[in-house]
Amino acid sequence: MKVTVVGAGNVGATCADVLAHKEIANEIVLLDIKEGFAEGKALDIWQTSPINQYDSRTIGSTNDYSKTANSDVVVITSGLPRKPGMSRDDLIATNAGIVKMVTENVVKHSPNAKIICVSNPLDVMTYCTYLTAKIDRSKVFGMAGVLDTARYRAFLATELGVSPKDIQAVLMGGHGDTMVPLPRYTTVAGIPVTELISKEKLDEIIERTKFGGGEIVKLLGTSAWYAPGAAAAQMVEAIIRDQKRVFPVCAWLDGEYGMKDIFLGVPVILGKDGIEKIIELDLNDEEKAMLNESAEAVRNVMAVLDSMNVDA
Ligand code: NAI
Ligand code: 2OP
Repeated sequence: MKVTVVGAGNVGATCADVLAHKEIANEIVLLDIKEGFAEGKALDIWQTSPINQYDSRTIGSTNDYSKTANSDVVVITSGLPRKPGMSRDDLIATNAGIVKMVTENVVKHSPNAKIICVSNPLDVMTYCTYLTAKIDRSKVFGMAGVLDTARYRAFLATELGVSPKDIQAVLMGGHGDTMVPLPRYTTVAGIPVTELISKEKLDEIIERTKFGGGEIVKLLGTSAWYAPGAAAAQMVEAIIRDQKRVFPVCAWLDGEYGMKDIFLGVPVILGKDGIEKIIELDLNDEEKAMLNESAEAVRNVMAVLDSMNVDA
């Protein structure tokens, strides 16, 4: 199996490293526009193979898409990350130009690939990828919910003093401050989380999750990469190994949750064909209102992209 990761920066290189280390694909191509950068990162990753005892091969490429030909999955991480004081939406114009150009090249060389967008603003860059790729919606989607849910689960694990492995949760909506963590669908080894934590504490954790990306930007001066890279690699694994994992994924809605023509985070089944099913939860009125508010925020940024006519 062959996987390409476009963008050999913090998130892309971390994703490639996890893919190699876990032997998720036997051939991994890391591509970047910066001369020699992807080759250098790929060589460094490959040199961990004798230490970490694996044989997946990572190679680098400076903007030569012929090396990515016939990839089964492509992860797009190219673009600028957020700097302090910048919202994800500030990134739209620059990253849309990059994502469009990258997607055109990806589809030309790997017409059957499943494409996972990671670049921000996530929901809208995934939309940009979809408009450019012109392939079925089951094959183009975005990574955000796996990361946001991981943050929520990690915060809960710390608070409850339990293993993060035992915390299961669903989080919906856009990858922004209006994301919708769902306590009603959060359990600790099957026990509803609401039986183990006060409402005040849970609300605090939900708020921290919503601003979890910004918390790291403030600390580091750039955005996170370990968890985002690992989250993207986990989605690749679900596809390559046809695992039918249930993950929150940024997907194109066509009537699900009463919404059409929008990319939004929803629970899906991820397998060899990409998004194999969108799971429709029976949300209560409060949850529906939060999801609608999040959708509204995403639609506002999608409108900015529409005004740029990227699919012209
Ligand atoms: P980075 O700056 O470390 O890496 C980005 C790489 O993209 C750079 O190496 C750059 O040379 C490359 N690049 C730029 N234009 C390119 C082009 N046309 N073709 C190929 N490569 C190109 O940034 P980082 O931290 O890796 O973040 C990457 C993106 O992922 C950002 O947009 C960031 O906001 C986003 N992100 C999204 C997350 C999510 O949950 N969806 C989480 C974390 C980051
Ligand atoms: C994150 O959530 C900035 O989207 C990036 O870490």
